Amino acid sequence: MDRVILVVMRIVMANDHGAVSLKMELKSWLEAQGHLVTNLGVDTEERVDYPDMARAAYAEYEKGGYDFGILLCGTGIGISIAANKLRGIRCALVHDEFTATMAREHNDANFIAMGGRVAYPVPPAKILAAFMNASFAGGRHAERVAKLVELDQGRKA
Ligand code: RB5
Repeated sequence: MDRVILVVMRIVMANDHGAVSLKMELKSWLEAQGHLVTNLGVDTEERVDYPDMARAAYAEYEKGGYDFGILLCGTGIGISIAANKLRGIRCALVHDEFTATMAREHNDANFIAMGGRVAYPVPPAKILAAFMNASFAGGRHAERVAKLVELDQGRKA
């Protein structure tokens, strides 16, 4: 008999006004699978600044216990730039299932970013699923990620 193993993940999400419906869509999809989501983003189109939303998700993630984070703005660009300025965050701006898989396998990303105003080639939940189903490949990629950590910690100019 086949065994189904359900891995429940804890995920922190934040978004600005440019990605309210994308946030709802991804959050509902995650919760339908039994995952635990902390939603720190706005739920209405009230204007907020994406660096503040990245900071809020970071503060929550830093408390520990999260598997990864999701950051959303209109394009995913601003919020990913903001996130990558925060120590310990490796946020990948993903566009499709390939980049989502690589973000985990090669970069060991702990956050992904997407855009609520972007036309993706597949439903965004499929992109998220690709990230969640991938795992870090290690090996030469671990050496590269270690160099990212050095850059993050300001030890290399
Ligand atoms: C907000 O209008 C928009 O600039 C923001 O959501 C994001 O796309 C920035 O990168």
